[in-house]
Amino acid sequence: MKKGILIGFTKWQTESAYKIYANYFEKQNIQLDLLKIDEYVLCIENDKPNINVKDYDFCVMLVKDQYISTLFEKQKKPCFNGYYEMTSSDDKFLTYVKLAENGIPLPKTLSGNTDFDGLKLPDYKRSENFRNNVEKILNYPFVAKPTYGYGGKGVEIVNNRKEFDELLDNIGQAAYLYQEFIPDNPGSDIRVMVVGGKVIFSIMRNNPNSFISNVSSGGNAVQYQASKEQKQLAEKVAKILGLTHCAVDFFNTVDGRPLICEVNANAGGIEINEKLTGINQAEKFVEYIIKKVYKD
Ligand SMILES: Nc1ncnc2c1ncn2[C@@H]1O[C@H](COP(=O)(O)OP(=O)(O)O)[C@@H](O)[C@H]1O
Ligand SMILES: [Mg+2]
Repeated sequence: MKKGILIGFTKWQTESAYKIYANYFEKQNIQLDLLKIDEYVLCIENDKPNINVKDYDFCVMLVKDQYISTLFEKQKKPCFNGYYEMTSSDDKFLTYVKLAENGIPLPKTLSGNTDFDGLKLPDYKRSENFRNNVEKILNYPFVAKPTYGYGGKGVEIVNNRKEFDELLDNIGQAAYLYQEFIPDNPGSDIRVMVVGGKVIFSIMRNNPNSFISNVSSGGNAVQYQASKEQKQLAEKVAKILGLTHCAVDFFNTVDGRPLICEVNANAGGIEINEKLTGINQAEKFVEYIIKKVYKD
């Protein structure tokens, strides 16, 4: 019996996504099991984990879990996306480091990360020099965002030193990055979906009430054809990051020049996107996975 497993997290519409994926796999006589990371307890006992990796041919990672990914990848069972690749795209600054090496156009961005993140030092405070440097390089207003953020949560415009001081006092040691504010069409961005190295569709998101375009923050997704240049760049970005299913998000620049905002591995919104584009990203991803696992 051909069999795979999908790893999800209840909060992120795992049930509905799982049903869609399972249905496409079933049509090809492949069983897809579901493992919810927030319910499952991974146990190692007598040198054996309580997940039978050998039973599965592949793993669809809607969320990443380093332990499960490692168990699969060590046994040469592919994870879609792979753990390393998902980790690089989860970290917005690490994504930029990788893309900058390859000449991909990005906004000017500063890392506010420190190695002390996990330590929770009681007297930790970002220094006056750090604050002066950020101000000097970016000028106000600039954008502050959580390095591992999603859904537009915590993305803020910082207008002056008072606001910057307040932000730093509030975030403590949380990993943040600071970025030049892109003033073109605020609240609007272009999402190009890439599956198996190829663009499958693009959409635009517009938020009339905020500079944050995410649908979960009030943005509306609409039909949109990205430019040829954006599509080519999106495929290049997916390749650089090694992602087999990702959304490459561009700022909606007034002159149409491609400028990357961020990249999301295994981006959701399957049903909304299908309504807008007529293309089901899960179906395309399933086709790709089957080809990779059973035909290549
Ligand atoms: N530098 C920026 N200038 C202007 N708008 C921005 C900037 N960075 C982010 N935004 C807006 O905020 C939204 C969320 O930021 P993003 O980096 O995509 O984080 P998230 O992972 O939370 O979606 C973007 O889609 C865009 O609309
Ligand atoms: Mg985003």
